[in-house]
Amino acid sequence: MRNWFRKEFGKRVGKGVGTSATPSIRRLGPQGGKACASIHAQSFPHPWSTEEFESLLAARDVIAHAAMRPASLRHWAGGPVGFVLSRQAADEAEILTLAVAPGARRRGIGAALLANHLPALAAAGVRCLFLEVEADNKAAIKLYQSFGFRQVGERKAYYRAADGGRATALVLRRDLA
Ligand SMILES: CC(C)(COP(=O)(O)OP(=O)(O)OC[C@H]1O[C@@H](n2cnc3c(N)ncnc32)[C@H](O)[C@@H]1OP(=O)(O)O)[C@@H](O)C(=O)NCCC(=O)NCCS
Repeated sequence: MRNWFRKEFGKRVGKGVGTSATPSIRRLGPQGGKACASIHAQSFPHPWSTEEFESLLAARDVIAHAAMRPASLRHWAGGPVGFVLSRQAADEAEILTLAVAPGARRRGIGAALLANHLPALAAAGVRCLFLEVEADNKAAIKLYQSFGFRQVGERKAYYRAADGGRATALVLRRDLA
């Protein structure tokens, strides 16, 4: 498991590892619902409530990780600065949501979350991982591509955009085994 992690992700999260920039990544339970809802509200036009997060985080088929504030973000109040949630069904899983608080972005936190989350999913028996991402979301698409996700589909008019219009979703896939 550790060798697989190093081979797959060691280089990708190499920058910042062992420095004050490194976030610590933890498994997340229902107690993290409020922090997730707050970060989600700052990241998406249609926020999910604390109760929705608590219920997801309590579900047996949901695997979630949080990134705790790295020492380099001293001004931050503490607690999670990002999170990722996936739902598993047999040997497949879907990333339901991933977000990093706006003031903590471009510091390797999204990459650190995925670098911990993907091996945890693999260890839980997931062989194939899917997600949907808005076609215009260049930051997320670049992040996912750097972790080996590839486009396998497209859903037109899938998302409700902030301006009331509809946005296209790309379906991405990453095999874990
Ligand atoms: C997408 C998101 C999670 C990235 O988190 P992050 O902590 O800023 O990402 P990282 O710093 O780990 O960046 C990792 C890589 O992603 C890509 N990336 C991240 N932000 C980017 C941006 N604004 N523009 C272009 N590429 C970007 C880069 O390839 C980057 O590697 P690099 O820094 O070596 O160039 C964050 O922008 C976010 O929360 N966005 C809003 C919510 C969202 O869109 N979630 C995904 C929905 S599917």
